[in-house]
Amino acid sequence: MEKIIIHIILLITLLLTCILNVSNGNIKTFYDTDLETSNFFHDQRNVNQLCDKLGEFYEEKNEILNLPRCIRFKNTMMLYCQGEMENFRNYTNKPKLERIETLIVCYHNSSTFDANLLKYFIKLKNLFIGYSSFNQFINKLPRLESLSFINITRNELMTLKGDFFSDLPSVNTIDLRYNQLQLVEKIQINSNTNSTVQIYLYGNLWNCSQAKIIKWIAGSDLKYDVVDKKKLNCSDHKFRARPLYTVMNFKNSLTKLCKDLKDLRNCTCHISFLRYEEDTRSFKPVASVNCSGKGFYNFPEMLPPYTNTFFIDHNKIRSLDALCFKNSTYNNVHDIYLEYNEIRDVSVLDNCQWFENFRVLNLKGNLIERIPVFAFSNSLELSNHATKLLLSENNWICSCRYAPRLLKLCQKYDLIADKRKIRCRNEKNDPDINGRLLMELTKNDVCKVNQIILNKFEIMSIIFTILIILLLLNLLYDWYRYKSSGKLPWIVLNTPLF
Ligand SMILES: *[C@@H]1O[C@H](CO)[C@@H](O)[C@H](O)[C@H]1NC(C)=O
Ligand SMILES: *[C@@H]1O[C@H](CO)[C@@H](O)[C@H](O)[C@H]1NC(C)=O
Ligand SMILES: *[C@@H]1O[C@H](CO)[C@@H](O)[C@H](O)[C@H]1NC(C)=O
Ligand SMILES: *[C@@H]1O[C@H](CO)[C@@H](O)[C@H](O)[C@H]1NC(C)=O
Ligand SMILES: *[C@@H]1O[C@H](CO)[C@@H](O)[C@H](O)[C@H]1NC(C)=O
Ligand SMILES: *[C@@H]1O[C@H](CO)[C@@H](O)[C@H](O)[C@H]1NC(C)=O
Ligand SMILES: *[C@@H]1O[C@H](CO)[C@@H](O)[C@H](O)[C@H]1NC(C)=O
Ligand SMILES: *[C@@H]1O[C@H](CO)[C@@H](O)[C@H](O)[C@H]1NC(C)=O
Ligand SMILES: *[C@@H]1O[C@H](CO)[C@@H](O)[C@H](O)[C@H]1NC(C)=O
Repeated sequence: MEKIIIHIILLITLLLTCILNVSNGNIKTFYDTDLETSNFFHDQRNVNQLCDKLGEFYEEKNEILNLPRCIRFKNTMMLYCQGEMENFRNYTNKPKLERIETLIVCYHNSSTFDANLLKYFIKLKNLFIGYSSFNQFINKLPRLESLSFINITRNELMTLKGDFFSDLPSVNTIDLRYNQLQLVEKIQINSNTNSTVQIYLYGNLWNCSQAKIIKWIAGSDLKYDVVDKKKLNCSDHKFRARPLYTVMNFKNSLTKLCKDLKDLRNCTCHISFLRYEEDTRSFKPVASVNCSGKGFYNFPEMLPPYTNTFFIDHNKIRSLDALCFKNSTYNNVHDIYLEYNEIRDVSVLDNCQWFENFRVLNLKGNLIERIPVFAFSNSLELSNHATKLLLSENNWICSCRYAPRLLKLCQKYDLIADKRKIRCRNEKNDPDINGRLLMELTKNDVCKVNQIILNKFEIMSIIFTILIILLLLNLLYDWYRYKSSGKLPWIVLNTPLF
């Protein structure tokens, strides 16, 4: 009786689908008759609209099994269930479940799915769980000797434990596509079959910032095949739309590179992002190296070639020379964080290639007394991409001669981001000025009336001017004497040349 009803309904649906197909050529035929054959589950045409079609079917044919929300197809030993699946738990006719070979669960819309419920299905070969909104499994899959085909697609699964599939000796296909997986621990498979297990992971939301957890996907040591690994894209904001496989490979090679450079042993290296290069139509990595507070006295000799950001703050660096060598490893390191070191002298930045291309230079908290203002001004003027220069907390000398120039530089460039925090701070300063904010000083503050401070060049110029005037006066006197008395000066008479 049961079977006849099924057949009648099958016929009706078949007819309906045919009519639909006539009216709309795009709708795929649902091969209902396959429900009675073992081909059903492996026919892509059916699987693609499994929940929809079985759902329609289910609407008409409820509770055949006395198992709420499920229909059983006896010939194929298939059980279709729709809605939340807690009901297996209290279902008393367990032997009926024990014969099922194919289980299809659709629209399980609570937030979790207890995988342990599947322990009654001891003959299960095919498992499909789809179109549901649960985001987490509780418990791993129980040991199921014959389960070989697993399709858990189009749910909202966010994480998965690595051992979820570890108790399935016959497994050969696992499809986890179109979930919201961000992280999956390394999947453990203990299959006894000879064929390579195939795993599908496309269409998830991989968080490539958490490389430690997901880099196994791109590994070459897997005992199974992640079929679509080269098609996976990252979804986190740092690596959005970048291919996961490429990202992980760059991360691995950077880790290795940094381990091999002995200067960097105490530092950490990160891929900051991947840049798309139009010319080669490929992605190029951009790295940052962090050597904060590791007791460095000098710049490391080598950085990974694609580093663009370097943190070497809170160390004991004294000299910037390494930045300005010809073809220095720092040529393309545009952001350098040098705050809280022991830099006193930055004159090397005058006429330095690096300084013409930098983006960020943080010199806060060093021992700088003065900078070559003209060179700085020039470089900032020419630079297209300088965005930030930090100079506060240094030992600035605010002399009458120097302070106005520095002040002018600060007033002109907003990229000196901390200019309002720059304080005059030096024993050589006038005690009235020491400790005051540079931007709040006026020329009158720094240059006391009548106070003339000359540097050594000016003193020399004055001396030379006086000497030249004396020389001219002497010449004039000699000429006058010669004219009036005809006497040549003593020096002419006694020099053999004349
Ligand atoms: C799993 O089911 C989906 C339908 O949701 C289907 O598109 C996919 O091909 C199935 N996976 C495999 C490996 O057959
Ligand atoms: C199953 O049975 C237990 C008690 O036997 C009951 O508390 C629970 O609500 C039942 N669950 C379902 C889904 O019917
Ligand atoms: C369950 O969720 C799916 C997708 O999340 C939705 O299409 C379906 O209508 C929901 N079904 C029920 C019974 O809530
Ligand atoms: C695996 O292969 C071995 C020999 O190649 C064979 O003896 C064994 O039966 C195969 N096992 C399965 C499950 O096919
Ligand atoms: C990815 O992981 C990072 C690091 O833990 C985290 O800050 C970020 O919010 C995650 N992204 C998403 C989309 O969850
Ligand atoms: C993955 O990213 C690549 C490059 O950004 C893009 O061409 C491709 O369409 C993306 N694929 C998916 C499925 O988003
Ligand atoms: C790394 O740190 C350790 C301990 O802080 C130190 O002894 C060692 O010299 C450092 N190595 C390098 C290369 O700086
Ligand atoms: C650099 O590493 C140190 C620890 O060594 C950490 O405290 C700091 O936040 C890191 N800096 C950046 C910008 O990541
Ligand atoms: C400078 O360039 C030469 C030749 O291109 C190269 O051999 C050398 O190693 C480079 N030096 C540095 C410090 O990169």
